[in-house]
Amino acid sequence: MLADAGFELRPGGLESTREQLMGLVRGAVAIVADPSVPIDSAVLDRAGPDLRIVANFAVGTDNVDLEECRRRGIIVTNTPGVLTNATAELALTLTMAAARLTSQAELTLRAGLWRGWDPAGHLGLELSGATFGIAGLGRIGQRYAELIRPLAGRILYVARTPKPEVEQRLGAEHCELDDLLTASDVVSLHVPGGPETSGMLDGRRLALMQSHAILINTGRGTLVDAGALASALAAGDLGAAGLDVYENEPEVPSSLLGAPRCVLLPHIGSATTKARAEMARMVAREVIAVSTGGDPVHRVV
Ligand code: 8YV
Repeated sequence: MLADAGFELRPGGLESTREQLMGLVRGAVAIVADPSVPIDSAVLDRAGPDLRIVANFAVGTDNVDLEECRRRGIIVTNTPGVLTNATAELALTLTMAAARLTSQAELTLRAGLWRGWDPAGHLGLELSGATFGIAGLGRIGQRYAELIRPLAGRILYVARTPKPEVEQRLGAEHCELDDLLTASDVVSLHVPGGPETSGMLDGRRLALMQSHAILINTGRGTLVDAGALASALAAGDLGAAGLDVYENEPEVPSSLLGAPRCVLLPHIGSATTKARAEMARMVAREVIAVSTGGDPVHRVV
């Protein structure tokens, strides 16, 4: 779409270094970034005065210095809505996989260590009737609540503002984070990244969770203290974890790689063909709109 609209494209691949990216942005009118690409004042400086828009190929914008963009009058857009189903479905996948310890069970099989049906082997958590705690009831959190509704005994949630409509429709109960952690069998995180939520699940809060409970994170790695999580799993203080995101991607902390009962995925929350195609179209439309003097549809700044 961008090439058809006459833009000169300078693609930076996964292997691009920061230095190479700095070279690519020089003189750009638009930057299309994803959460692994920090867009800070040095990048904005390098782009120079022609830069009109940072179109993030993601719903999260914690990689972008929003204040700096606001100060410079640079528009920032994101891709909400089109990845809601994909991400909530992946949170459900991780929930089921973590509850039934599927990664560990499959590794045992692949390593040739399966010695037959074991009445006490690979015992997981039954989800039917479980209490689900959802931190963040935005689009993705709500979709996750809809998906787990048929399984859930109770649904607890934390959100900045209570959502009476969702409470009524899904039977969800609003509560404080500490109470949610104490009461839930499954905790799934759906709050945005950034300074406000960084370290939200620190050692103290992880210790509030029950020893059979599972933690799911498809939000941002910064939400959870990875070291404390790995220690809780190793000590048997937590049942299992399912993670799709890490603080310094693509680096995965070695403590997590070595932790038991942990399903680890490489940030594939929005990775369905449909979601990625719609995200791409949305990004291109925003760049074209802003560069031709129009208004973006999903403006963050
Ligand atoms: C990924 C996401 O960023 O939208 C977000 O905030 O985390 C995901 O959609 C996207 O897959 C690009 O890596």
